[in-house]
Amino acid sequence: MASIFITGATSGIGRALSFEMAKRGYCLALSARSVEELEKMKKEINDEHSPPAIAVKHLDVTDYRAVPKALSFLIGELGGLDIVYANAGIGLGERVGKNEFDKARATIEVNLLGAMATIDAAVAYFLKKGKGHVVGVSSVAAFRGMPRSSSYCASKAGIAIYLESLRAETFRKNIDVTVLYPGYIDTPLNQMLPKRPFLISVEKGAKIIADLIEKRVKSSTVPVYPWNIVGKLLKILPTGMVSRL
Ligand SMILES: NC(=O)c1ccc[n+]([C@@H]2O[C@H](COP(=O)([O-])OP(=O)(O)OC[C@H]3O[C@@H](n4cnc5c(N)ncnc54)[C@H](OP(=O)(O)O)[C@@H]3O)[C@@H](O)[C@H]2O)c1
Repeated sequence: MASIFITGATSGIGRALSFEMAKRGYCLALSARSVEELEKMKKEINDEHSPPAIAVKHLDVTDYRAVPKALSFLIGELGGLDIVYANAGIGLGERVGKNEFDKARATIEVNLLGAMATIDAAVAYFLKKGKGHVVGVSSVAAFRGMPRSSSYCASKAGIAIYLESLRAETFRKNIDVTVLYPGYIDTPLNQMLPKRPFLISVEKGAKIIADLIEKRVKSSTVPVYPWNIVGKLLKILPTGMVSRL
């Protein structure tokens, strides 16, 4: 059976997708910073779905040198890897020029550099193996720069373009590249926000994402509708309206 590596697997979408993929019979390689949570999840997933194999490993994706080592360990445990889901992410929210640069830097380090480190390590393995599937997590925040989340929007636009480049670079290789643009999915990342338009549950989000992964789509919003249309509107919204969002 196919195997998937999920970073940031201990909460929100990563956690729900781990259960969903186990239910669909995938072998799982899971990582995050909380080892205790990973071990607890491993037991719960085995009890609920008994997937063919499940391996867990501590990984802070901003420890860039540790990323290929963790991936090699997990590949060794599972005997191979088919899909990487570069999911680990944070959303701190900050204002430019308000002495909050540390938050902006952390956001870029986790969401952009951490995802790039994960994808780089996985692609090195896929190139040797001769095939593979890279799934990157952007956001509808990549469609338009929003106030109070400049680094988050930049990180998500950055990873989307990075994956576009990767798709072109591996065009003649047997490597599929999927970019996902989730809207609001109910997780701790956004539970503090006053407004979460078109919110869906994390279980529903995980099912939609699993379907999109299995279809090997090039890119998609999550859910597809209404964000496929709202995303286009966001791009042309006057700045005065964006400033009030
Ligand atoms: N929820 C949404 O509506 C939404 C919308 C668009 C995009 N996304 C994206 O989807 C991804 C998952 O978000 P979520 O909503 O599920 O968030 P979440 O519930 O806060 O989960 C984030 C996960 O990332 C892990 N993580 C954080 N920093 C890490 C680091 N330095 N190294 C490794 N793992 C780290 C956390 O685990 P540990 O603390 O144990 O490390 C946790 O498992 C993110 O990339 C987010 O930007 C979410």
